[in-house]
Amino acid sequence: MAEGGEAERANPTISALFEEHRVFPPPPEFTVRANVRDRLLYENAERDLEGFWAEAAEGIDWFRKWDRVLEWSPPFAKWFVGGQLNAAFNCLDRHVRTWRRNKAAIIWEGEPGEQRVLTYGDLHREVSKFANVLKHLGVKNGDRVALYMPMIPELVVALLACARLGAPHTVVFGGFSPESLRGRINDAQAKVVITADGGFRRGSIVPLKQNVDEALAGCPSVENVILVRRIGEAVHMHFHEGRDHWYHRLMDEAPLQCPAEPMDAEDPLYILHTSGTTAKPKGVVHTTGGYMVGVSATHRWVFDIKDEDIFWCTADIGWVTGHSYVVYGPLANGATVFMYEGSPDWPDKSRWWEIIEKYRISILYTAPTAIRSFMGWGEQHVRKHDLSSLRLLGTVGEPINPEAWMWYQEHIGGGRCPIVDTWWQTETGMIMVSPLPGVTTTKPGSATFPLPGVRAEVVDEYGNPVPSGSGGYLVLTRPWPAMLRTIYGDPERYVSVYFSRFGPKVYFTGDGAKRDEDLYLWLLGRVDDVMNVSGHRISTIEVESALVDHKDVAEAAVIGRSHAVKGQAVAAFVTLKAGVPLSRDKADDLKTHVIEKIGALARPEEIFFTAELPKTRSGKIMRRLLRDIAEGRALGDTTTLADPTVIARLRTQYEENAES
Ligand code: WTA
Repeated sequence: MAEGGEAERANPTISALFEEHRVFPPPPEFTVRANVRDRLLYENAERDLEGFWAEAAEGIDWFRKWDRVLEWSPPFAKWFVGGQLNAAFNCLDRHVRTWRRNKAAIIWEGEPGEQRVLTYGDLHREVSKFANVLKHLGVKNGDRVALYMPMIPELVVALLACARLGAPHTVVFGGFSPESLRGRINDAQAKVVITADGGFRRGSIVPLKQNVDEALAGCPSVENVILVRRIGEAVHMHFHEGRDHWYHRLMDEAPLQCPAEPMDAEDPLYILHTSGTTAKPKGVVHTTGGYMVGVSATHRWVFDIKDEDIFWCTADIGWVTGHSYVVYGPLANGATVFMYEGSPDWPDKSRWWEIIEKYRISILYTAPTAIRSFMGWGEQHVRKHDLSSLRLLGTVGEPINPEAWMWYQEHIGGGRCPIVDTWWQTETGMIMVSPLPGVTTTKPGSATFPLPGVRAEVVDEYGNPVPSGSGGYLVLTRPWPAMLRTIYGDPERYVSVYFSRFGPKVYFTGDGAKRDEDLYLWLLGRVDDVMNVSGHRISTIEVESALVDHKDVAEAAVIGRSHAVKGQAVAAFVTLKAGVPLSRDKADDLKTHVIEKIGALARPEEIFFTAELPKTRSGKIMRRLLRDIAEGRALGDTTTLADPTVIARLRTQYEENAES
């Protein structure tokens, strides 16, 4: 079956995956104390979907209660219609009225080793002041604010200050290039940019402010830049009088009180760009009410959060995982969040384990790619540390191979911690498929079942459910509160990308999946032109456009090739323009070009030069065949090729090249 084949090609390890028969029931001692102990939530959701989400919405404070839970005119959904609330109020004000005022909201450690603790009281004060700063600069309800920052507490302050005013934020990951930053700022038409003089990354300095200056050369909407001093003297930067302002200066003068703006449930909370199947990233729009209900409820259910926990989600706030499970979900729940600025191998490979021991982290949520790196580095880095505080482990971002799952469970979880493998996307806003740690029997490598209230199916290309054991497309067949509402500035793309392939009622995820005979879901990776490199979504087309933008390149085809640690690695097949000599450093030159255009995360691991690319008769490059070559597999169907000899030659050349 074509679509099954497509899905399997996305993750060739699937056959092995599917042979996995080990099962791990929830530990009874976990279940007794768990937030969710039985199947009641699933049953309630089946019985009355709206009633179920209405009950979940009781976990949020509303200024005005909603009139209707759901208005669904496919593919457009409105949740908690008529309700009013404020996301920052839910993360702060309602906690500071209780004993939680003096509870740690954020425990932070910087890469060089500094520590800061902000209680809910502290965070409430900083956010209120910073909201006044933004107001003073003319930011009002509905204005967009761009953030390009390191993982420091001020990033959380900035996010919540925007939410307090009802100004949608758009965070751009600090690893993106000035050009990517510019594209996102312009797409959102941001009025203010918040950044830092720089950030620390493996002992060196990321020149964030310099990148902002470069980006802003082409961003007419931006009026002001606010700069957090993170580095100080050690960084060179220009200060643009009139446009640039020091964060600390503005904060010195800011008044303490700033009421939280009542927002409609459907008012946008933020825009977050993600790669799609064209060169232009999509600005995914999340709104306030449904999103807050979705992330707070899933954070309670999936992570079993308790007041005494210290929750560490290792994602950068530049990605959706950081938005939903570093900031909005945990803080709405009054949890203590641990936040770390740096990377896992700096200054040495035991940094994370040292952190877990030092702060007594109880819940760790990270990506399979990190786990595979740790496996490669060896257990000795882990064994030196006492990880007995951990009680629950999570993963997200890509399929986890059973071997990595077992390693995580044994060496990090000490054999006692349940693992929640959570499947979701920027677009879904919240976790959609995951075990509930006190309820679900897990199988290594399977994300198990849709959460209560969520319905997922695996379908063939006509939208019919496939029998268990066959591959197909993963679709979501019911609306959910935290779903994206649109693509910013491009509502047609919302419909065409997500709700056309299988009709307006069925959300197409872009992922392949299988269901086994026990109905467990096994995710197989993307079936579209999106790569997943170290848990990050990168569009093949975006990298191709960066390559053809280089003066020497005539044509380029990019694929994600499976990679033992990163999940996928970017591989490029490039045809140079006639007359351009193939010099030794051409590949490096092109890699640098991609870094400059997009950012280091999109850097091709391998560039292969070829005189021709395999194309269909209508001129479409057949990436699928290139992937077969790069992964050393037998070639798939080649009948649609215009000239089958091209691919045969390419394979021989590629293999010779690999040998030499
Ligand atoms: C992949 C990250 C398998 C998937 C939250 C999805 C996963 C894309 C899992 C979204 C998982 C995420 N198992 N695959 N547990 N979680 N994915 O938007 O391909 O950065 O479509 O959101 O990551 O990536 P995004």
